[in-house]
Amino acid sequence: MQVNKAVIPAAGFGTRFLPVTKAQPKEMMPVLDKPTIQYVVEEAVSSGIDDVLIITGRGKQAIEAHFDKSYELEEELKNAGKTDRLDRVREIADLVDIHYVRQKERNGLGDAVLYARKHVGDEPFALLLGDTIIESEMPCTRELVQYAEEYEESVLSLERVPWERVESYGVAEVGGDVDSEPCFPVEDFVEKPPREEAPSNLAITGRYVLTPEIFDLLEETEKGVGGELQLTDAIRALSSVRGVELSGDRFDIGNIPDWLKANIEMALTHDDGEMNEAVRQIIQEQLNE
Ligand code: G1P
Repeated sequence: MQVNKAVIPAAGFGTRFLPVTKAQPKEMMPVLDKPTIQYVVEEAVSSGIDDVLIITGRGKQAIEAHFDKSYELEEELKNAGKTDRLDRVREIADLVDIHYVRQKERNGLGDAVLYARKHVGDEPFALLLGDTIIESEMPCTRELVQYAEEYEESVLSLERVPWERVESYGVAEVGGDVDSEPCFPVEDFVEKPPREEAPSNLAITGRYVLTPEIFDLLEETEKGVGGELQLTDAIRALSSVRGVELSGDRFDIGNIPDWLKANIEMALTHDDGEMNEAVRQIIQEQLNE
């Protein structure tokens, strides 16, 4: 088993971030100097993926424009002798082969993933949610790919979340001891359970490697929570699934505190020493006021 393709769903509304997301995809929200989805594509590339499919929808054209070649801008930067900036702009278009398909109606994550069927075919694939940045030493997707190839099974990244937040996530039910092995079997999942019914506080983070069996299961899955076709409902029907606890930081850019936190944390750890210092000073000043 070899994972070469990645699918990035980026078709959902960013309702928690309105009005910013009224005319702009939430996946284009900047974190420092890059839009969120660029971090996601870069994670896929640094995980050994050479083919990316982005699931878009109405109002998401800015995503395609971002990864496209920009002749006018390149020409202008070239003429102005701004070679550093020119290189940065060129790098984006050269990152990887990106394909697009549009989800016609917003019927949930499961429905969005079904749009990948034709492109992915009969291969396992990595799935990375386009509004979630994961910062970790080893790219999260690379770790999942390695385990999926070793076990020849679907593998999901999971993270312990505060119990009062379980109802915002897909949650895992783990039979054995999570600490006994780094990539452990998961018995079941439940999408957005009320706290009292949640089997654990191990939540699906938005990074998956899935076997192609998922497509048939999605076709058979009925609408679930929120009247949407839920990916989690198809995952629970897979013959076997494993989980890996996330070692790194996850930022769900669709909500304002997480987006702010991503900017601050990443500015403080950025290679640019001047930027670290400037941000540290701003925070210090605010705290002193
Ligand atoms: C989706 C998935 C959920 C997962 C979450 C991670 O939910 O359905 O299982 O835990 O992403 O962010 P959404 O956030 O789209 O409601």
